[in-house]
Amino acid sequence: MAVRINPSILSADFANLERDLAAIATADYAHVDVMDQHFVPNLTIGLPVVARLAQVSPVPLDVHLMVDDADRWAPEYAAAGAASVTFHAEATQAPVRLARELRSHGVRAGVAVRPATPVEPLLDLLDEFDMILVMTVEPGFGGQPFIDGTLPKLRRARQAIRAANAATWIQVDGGVSRETIGRIAAAGADTFVAGSAVYAAPDVAAEIAALRALALPTVSA
Ligand code: DX5
Ligand code: ZN
Repeated sequence: MAVRINPSILSADFANLERDLAAIATADYAHVDVMDQHFVPNLTIGLPVVARLAQVSPVPLDVHLMVDDADRWAPEYAAAGAASVTFHAEATQAPVRLARELRSHGVRAGVAVRPATPVEPLLDLLDEFDMILVMTVEPGFGGQPFIDGTLPKLRRARQAIRAANAATWIQVDGGVSRETIGRIAAAGADTFVAGSAVYAAPDVAAEIAALRALALPTVSA
């Protein structure tokens, strides 16, 4: 299995997003957190900014929507140039219909669950989703500590994907760092979002390489 490192630009300098995207050219995707101040108590960026980021980013955009009414908004982010669009299971009426609509736009379709939302309802539907995002902090803010209680959920998701021989990626988001990435990889994740760990590092490219090197032996084992 491949390892993907997706830095979150939530921890970048919002006055210098083009510069801070250029700094992560060795990453797999740029993770873009869209928050609407309703689904989560924070507000970030929306469609016009994401559309411009897609034009200037050296790597494809992995958009993480933390917004209400995902059925209405997610397809717009596909049209705005994202390569991958992830909506929250808690914010959609019809996750399968929405994922199919996203795929019809030619983007990867991801579904996210908060730390206390069970992953089991999705596990019979793996073929419908390109990625499951297991939140390992409550969504809304960068820099929060990793919640270890999410690890069993990762293990169950990995077991189901293996059993079904599905191609679904497992992404983790929240508290990913050099200290935590080893046990997260061991639990079954293959796609790692890291915001503060990457952007607070003195050498951003070196941090991406270090995280990749720590996850690689476990994920490819
Ligand atoms: C939180 C966001 C994350 C955030 C992670 O709701 O979804 O993508 O940037 O930040 P760190 O890596 O600092 O926990
Ligand atoms: Zn995120």
